[in-house]
Amino acid sequence: MKSNKSAALTEAKKICEFILKDELNDEEKDQLVQDSINNFNENVNPGWLAYRKSVSTNAAFVEWEDSMESFKDLYGNEFIDCLGGFGIYTCGHRNPEILKYVQAQLNRYALHSQELIDPLRGYLAKIMALCTPGDLQYAFFCNGGAEANEMALKLARLATGKKYYISTVGAFHGKSLGAVSMTGKGTYRKPYLPMIQGVQHVEYGNAEAAEAAIKNLIAVGESVAGMIVEPIQGEAGIVIPPEGYLKQLREICDKYDVVLIFDEIQTGMGRTGTMWACEAEDVVPDILVYGKAFGGGIMPITGIIARPHLWTDDIKENPWILGSPTFGGNPLACSAAIATLKYSLENDIPGQIKEKGEYLMGKLKELQEKHPVLVEVRGKGFLIGLDYPTPEMGWAVSKGLFKRGVMTGGTLNSSKTNRIEPPGILTYETMDIIVEKLDETLTEVEEEFSITWKSVAATK
Ligand SMILES: Cc1ncc(COP(=O)(O)O)c(C=O)c1O
Repeated sequence: MKSNKSAALTEAKKICEFILKDELNDEEKDQLVQDSINNFNENVNPGWLAYRKSVSTNAAFVEWEDSMESFKDLYGNEFIDCLGGFGIYTCGHRNPEILKYVQAQLNRYALHSQELIDPLRGYLAKIMALCTPGDLQYAFFCNGGAEANEMALKLARLATGKKYYISTVGAFHGKSLGAVSMTGKGTYRKPYLPMIQGVQHVEYGNAEAAEAAIKNLIAVGESVAGMIVEPIQGEAGIVIPPEGYLKQLREICDKYDVVLIFDEIQTGMGRTGTMWACEAEDVVPDILVYGKAFGGGIMPITGIIARPHLWTDDIKENPWILGSPTFGGNPLACSAAIATLKYSLENDIPGQIKEKGEYLMGKLKELQEKHPVLVEVRGKGFLIGLDYPTPEMGWAVSKGLFKRGVMTGGTLNSSKTNRIEPPGILTYETMDIIVEKLDETLTEVEEEFSITWKSVAATK
């Protein structure tokens, strides 16, 4: 396609007008749907349209409005959000108690000159130091989760002068080249090999395997800079390690002087019933990585916080050596994160999630007793995985729930798992509705696939 600036302007004017309107008429809605299909097919990636597991049977698929527990499509159909944008809506969609501070900041200044000091970044760093465990003290803010993990990995090498990383099989740490090198699934790594050299993947949940890898590397003359691990593996299908795993890793990393990095991008901000998942095990990492829910479901902001011994003189003398993202920790994003932390602390979102998670888990376990297709229910807080015998059955459940107004999702590294990651502000009434809809859907899927207790037992 040749450059056509006047056509570009026409398109921009059209969507700007739609954005400003409170209500679109039927013709405009149809136009927006048709444009979206064409634009995604021609200019984004047709795969997005083909690969929408849960919504593929529904003509209405353009997301247009959201509020707290739910979002609406263009035609006003409402969906309870049990996917939570893969964990970003812990405080709900556009929570007014967060939004008002972001709007006020937007009316003052959104980004900044990069030269003067932005006070919000300083306040946010201090608040993070106060609400993370142990002596975690120095924060660095970024825009995405993968980028934050890059900073953690770079900091481990920068501070120690050592080289190797230990990661885990099944891990998901993002898809930038450094982060995907740590990721523990072949599909996402193979096309980019060779990637970061010096990474050993060990079995998740097995501290002895981590120690053996470190010991063996040192024995052959290598040096190990850091170990990166999720306290619960999210994308691998909500995998909970044995109790004491994180503590053992802490001891091993102390013994061999290896930087321990906890990737809490998904588990953090109360998702598992404590502000940080590592707090439940009383373990402090050397670097804590956070993201997703950190911006309150309103602004993208992620980051790391490190213990002071890692913030070496080199970094203090040259603050840009670790990274200098133009938009990292920008004022608007910082206002969202500060307001999110304020809201979470004032309303005890982690505590709410702990209680509600236990209630929901109890109800889901009751469904498991009743439905042979639901082979496993596991999770912590509002990070819940539901397993089915095959990926096709998992998709059928997602689809059936979507048809009934409940949005759930799969996980990137395990296609047999449905994930339930609802907002922490979910009411008990809504949880009961979700369970009722799931009950109906499971019955439907069992009929569709002719599933009985006997047929499931035979596949084991
Ligand atoms: C544990 C974990 N780390 C890193 C990431 C990557 O974050 P982002 O998609 O913001 O780069 C994710 C995203 O799902 C994640 O769950």
